[in-house]
Amino acid sequence: MKKAFVTGVTGQDGAYLAKLLLEEGYEVHGGVRRISQPETTRLDILGITDDVTLHEFDLTEQNNIYRVIRDVEMDEFYNLAAQSFVGASWELPIYTADVDGMAVVRILDTLRTIRPDCRFYQASTSEMFGLVQEVPQSETTRLYPRSPYGVAKVYGHYITMNYRESFDMHASSGILFNHESPLRGKEFVTRKITLGLAALARGGDKPIELGNMDAKRDWGYAADYVKGMWLMLQQDKADDYVLATGVTTTIRDFFTFAGEALGMDLEWSGEAEAETATDRKSGKLVMKVNPKFYRPAEVELLIGDPSKAEKSLGWKADVDIRGLATMMAKSDYDALA
Ligand code: NAP
Ligand code: GDD
Repeated sequence: MKKAFVTGVTGQDGAYLAKLLLEEGYEVHGGVRRISQPETTRLDILGITDDVTLHEFDLTEQNNIYRVIRDVEMDEFYNLAAQSFVGASWELPIYTADVDGMAVVRILDTLRTIRPDCRFYQASTSEMFGLVQEVPQSETTRLYPRSPYGVAKVYGHYITMNYRESFDMHASSGILFNHESPLRGKEFVTRKITLGLAALARGGDKPIELGNMDAKRDWGYAADYVKGMWLMLQQDKADDYVLATGVTTTIRDFFTFAGEALGMDLEWSGEAEAETATDRKSGKLVMKVNPKFYRPAEVELLIGDPSKAEKSLGWKADVDIRGLATMMAKSDYDALA
């Protein structure tokens, strides 16, 4: 039985990946950082909490990383843990650099020293493309990060590549475009929208306050994307791969699809800070812009070219944007029953 270790196992991707690895017959271990109230909600929802062995694990602590790698003796190491919210990274730039950048070399250097044959996956991101230099973005597109988060992830990406080339380690990076699900964190825009719309559809009257409505993202379904992570570590040679749908959508259109899934008929009016959306059926104001959610530097457009992953891994995103918006909106609506 192969052993896998997943950092960030309590996060969105960690939970879906742990489920997939269990289905594939792995002994699954996961890292959780110490907080005052142990939090395994996502593992509970997927019904796998008792099947995953949890270890106290913090990316900022070198010797803790060393001991976990020594004791677990894993065959595959998936590094999914991160300060993953772009918006917070301007307020926490040094912490973000440490957790999303430096921690990657802490892990790689420990693996190199005591477990060099362990296969390694790094959670790289389309946020590294930032001010995009090419459309669509692929594995060879020049990086131009636009946030402290993006800059930290560029370090993690290049140090993974460097350890692969320097020490012949099986270390791969998945350059993943945005992927969402009913388990998505509540501050990310898709989940913020579906939670807010579900509350409105259940009789609430609080409009959802958002920032830049014109940004475009290539959004897929998280459960599809963790399959790609696993496939990367099953290849004979380590490499870097983009996972994306190849379709891009504005925040406004995602909002419309989610609203339609809950039976709303939205009317959009105004521009920039004066933009609003009203549900023609109920007459309720459902969205207004609040500039507080604008970012100091924005990533306006992301659209990925997943052809390398499709050809080499046989991977493909199955859920399209309407399917995703509908799945998330209905899940949040049902949870309020
Ligand atoms: P998430 O839901 O925010 O999960 C992040 C996980 O990291 C949580 O389990 C969190 O623990 C853990 N963590 C945070 N700081 C830690 C620390 N110092 N030590 C140990 N664990 C720590 O993120 P996600 O959406 O699953 O994303 C997974 C990874 O993929 C992240 O690295 C993210 O940057 C990257 N990524 C995500 C996307 C996307 O669209 N979802 C796209 C590209 C790349 P708590 O539960 O205690 O907070
Ligand atoms: N969060 C949030 N809240 N975003 C908003 C809001 C709002 O109220 N209003 C507009 N947006 C816009 C943001 O400005 C951004 O352009 C877009 O919605 C998406 O924001 P997020 O959902 O926070 O995701 P992200 O694209 O910044 O980052 C996610 O995807 C990256 C991959 O490209 C995260 O999952 C990162 O961890 C991941 O690397």
